[in-house]
Amino acid sequence: MAELSLPFESRYFPLKKFFDIYNRSIQEPEAFWAEQARQLDWFKTWDKVLEWEPPFARWFTGAQLNASYNCVDRHVKTWRRSKVAMYWEGEPGDTRVLSYSTLYGAVNRFASVLKNCGVGKGDRVALYLPMIPELPIFMLACGRIGAVHTVVFSGFSAQALADRINDAQVKLLVTADGGFRRGKVVPLKSIADEALTMSPSVERTIVVKRADVPISMKPSRDLWLHDLLDKAAPFVQPEPMASNDPLYILYTSGTTGKPKGVVHGTGGYLVHNYCAYKWAFDLKEESVYWCSADVGWVTGHSSIVYAPLSHGAAIVLYEGAPDYPTIDRWWDIIEKYGVTIFYTSPTAIRMFMGYGEEWVHRHDLSSLELLGSVGEPINTQAWLWFYRHIGGERCPIVDTWWQTETGGIMISPTPGIERLPLKPGSATLPLPGVDADVVDETGKSAPPEERGWLVIKKPWPGMLLSIHGDPERYRQYWSRFPGVYYTGDYAVKDRDGYFWILGRADEVLKIAGHRIGTAELEDAATSHPQVAEAAVASKGDPVKGESIVLFVRLKEGSTPSPGLKNELSEHMRGKIGPIATPDEVYFTTKLPKTRSGKIMRRVLKAVANNTSIGDVTTLEDEASVEEVVKAYQELKKA
Ligand code: PRX
Repeated sequence: MAELSLPFESRYFPLKKFFDIYNRSIQEPEAFWAEQARQLDWFKTWDKVLEWEPPFARWFTGAQLNASYNCVDRHVKTWRRSKVAMYWEGEPGDTRVLSYSTLYGAVNRFASVLKNCGVGKGDRVALYLPMIPELPIFMLACGRIGAVHTVVFSGFSAQALADRINDAQVKLLVTADGGFRRGKVVPLKSIADEALTMSPSVERTIVVKRADVPISMKPSRDLWLHDLLDKAAPFVQPEPMASNDPLYILYTSGTTGKPKGVVHGTGGYLVHNYCAYKWAFDLKEESVYWCSADVGWVTGHSSIVYAPLSHGAAIVLYEGAPDYPTIDRWWDIIEKYGVTIFYTSPTAIRMFMGYGEEWVHRHDLSSLELLGSVGEPINTQAWLWFYRHIGGERCPIVDTWWQTETGGIMISPTPGIERLPLKPGSATLPLPGVDADVVDETGKSAPPEERGWLVIKKPWPGMLLSIHGDPERYRQYWSRFPGVYYTGDYAVKDRDGYFWILGRADEVLKIAGHRIGTAELEDAATSHPQVAEAAVASKGDPVKGESIVLFVRLKEGSTPSPGLKNELSEHMRGKIGPIATPDEVYFTTKLPKTRSGKIMRRVLKAVANNTSIGDVTTLEDEASVEEVVKAYQELKKA
């Protein structure tokens, strides 16, 4: 059992409150979570808090609730009906402010639009939209009628959009004519048109007018949202959903070429997020909460939509690039809306560090009370800069560790319970109810200060229900260390029991905090007609954390050239999107492989980073030391 060790408790004696809650949550998880769940509104309470048939967990079985009811209806019955739910700012500077009652009206009318388009409970709806109010409204509208949304990040290409639509068998797509990014219009509708030539399951497309640019509308398929809203009903009964009915599918990268559709349920997911944001961010109805992530990632789902709105807080949503048209755009937004909690990524912090703090000091950021970081390890320097210049040495930083699969925050300081001593670069301790550990290769707890694999030893409410259409892939999370959830991350626990996350232990990269599999990148590269073989490694990057280095062997008759390098980069952007752009491309006549054909990743990594091959373990590479060194030297020469 994961009681935190005594020396830790005695060292930080004032943390008694935290440990009382934490230890109880681990000793009596069902009673603990039942108590937490009562903070949400249920149409029917549960028969059982947890049904655990490893590796499948079902939370609050027999219960019924509705996500949109918990995010809007319950607020309009209180004083919050006239308080702000959302401050929205478009990149060109246009703004919209929605109260909870306006949001409620919009969610209902959008739900009616979906119903009038033939969408019902269980149908999948893809949302390929810029960061405009219509995106969260459509998510809530889907939840209201029991449809399952799948948000596709608006930076993904037509092919990536089509792959996701096809895997989820989406019935209806919502997109916009365009969205603003860095002063230009991203032509979302024309990208969607291209995707739809590959996606026969989509029957209807709803188009939001955002950028007011000319687009083509296919008469039998495409409909303008504003026309549909004219005929929409002002109220749609929220569908009573079983706690384990899916709320959404969100695609993320794994170790194979095919992204996985992570399925999240309704009851467990909402309970976990409601609690996590109260504990980690001390979130309250009076908070003005800005999470700068895109709604297209899990951070956006939980931290922009479901957690803050279930608390009745005000969210800030910003459409465009962080440093556009001037470098202080974000600081201007914080000052303008009086943001109290600001949640962002280490990559963004490092980018702003590079611009210098004078841009920050032009603004009054005294409304800020708390800062958060997510998505990748935060280095000490970035942590300190964030603490000093953004938080004015006043605001705690919550470094929150979690994943698309976990649904909600798992490891983080909990100032909402009790302020614990922070250590720059450590996500500190697991949240109540989260039984996290670092284990060695045999699955035993690793000793303090020793690197091991981060695992979660008990089910938690926000955990994924499954992988859409592929329960076998879901089982893999629980098979590397039988019976416990394997996160894919390396971590260390220090002598105080604090967790330090060291990065991915599998073939997944984190480029500017975005998760992308090497296999996905390699598949995209090899689909170019001149490429015979491709392999990807990452290189340390001072801003993005990691950047992509692509090694390619060309087909007979193809000649390496700078032009071909650019063409390959463009090709990868086209296949996946701008996040897949390699920073460097190397042509080679031979890729370093073991006898069984496995790519020697560490050789690639050493060459990409211009470091020595270091301590070579033959086990990991299935190759002898001599073979690895030879492959390294050959590749370096090439
Ligand atoms: O490697 C860890 C890293 O992000 C991965 C999960 O990525 P994704 O599913 O895209 O979700 C990101 C946002 C929730 C993890 O396996 N990661 C996330 N948060 C942190 C982190 N690494 C270090 N510190 C963090 N706080």
